[in-house]
Amino acid sequence: MQIEEQPGAAIGATVEGFDHTTASDADVEALKNTVYRRKIAVLKGQDLSPKEFLALGKRLGRPETYYEPMYKHPEVPEIFVSSNVPENGRQIGVPKTGKFWHADYQFMPDPFGLTLIHPQVVPEKNRGTYFIDMGRAYEKLPEELKREIAGTRCTHSVRKYFKIRPHDVYRPLSEIIDEVERKTPAVVQPTTFTHPMTGETVLYISEGFTVGIEDRDGNPLDEELLKRLFEATGQLDETFTHDGIHLQGFERGDLLIWDNRSLVHRARHTSAPEPTVSYRVTVHDERRLHDGIKAA
Ligand SMILES: [Fe+2]
Repeated sequence: MQIEEQPGAAIGATVEGFDHTTASDADVEALKNTVYRRKIAVLKGQDLSPKEFLALGKRLGRPETYYEPMYKHPEVPEIFVSSNVPENGRQIGVPKTGKFWHADYQFMPDPFGLTLIHPQVVPEKNRGTYFIDMGRAYEKLPEELKREIAGTRCTHSVRKYFKIRPHDVYRPLSEIIDEVERKTPAVVQPTTFTHPMTGETVLYISEGFTVGIEDRDGNPLDEELLKRLFEATGQLDETFTHDGIHLQGFERGDLLIWDNRSLVHRARHTSAPEPTVSYRVTVHDERRLHDGIKAA
């Protein structure tokens, strides 16, 4: 296994020759440390079946199966499928997922530390995913803004981007909203936490899922404060030229592993969509997202 940092970028490393069936525990440890340090590891030359992909994921941690069934791979339910390519006339998974800044499972009480993506059908033109390192973004905040958010907490919810399911057709919207609030009530997390693996301070907010901010006593703060944080970190930049935005490319045979504590990401979809299919496995590593989350 050879690990090489991506030249010219603060984020990313490429990993050649990783074989999950023969890798030693020390190799797996080195791979995970690369992910924590460089935030994204691109494993080259992987061409894994759904079962093999899951087996690789299990070397890194405990898989979390997505809670909504329509995203599941028909044979391997732990795999989340993003696809706009029907198979035998049937829609598998969900098209156009994640076209907004988010951290995976940020709206859930116990988010996982690692996300793995194995692209299956790679678009010709607009390939890649946008990322922002929210540890680095926190560091760059003006001191007064850091002081302003010290001790605050944020509310996260799936409500803005919850996708209507096939069986929701003909249901009143109010009933669907009630169900979403009941099944996935908004969660509250500290606005910043200490990354348990690296000690960095991470600003844990995203434009897609973060819906409110409150002071240490639980009193709601002006939404404009959240806006300023999104603005400062690049999450409102629709040109994607902000300093903090990293476009990570990939090709067929790649398998991306990223640090879901530090990174927010956003899919790159265009108005004229090209065929795109990718498989995702998500795993909990040895620690909770942060030390303030207690075991369920
Ligand atoms: Fe995502």
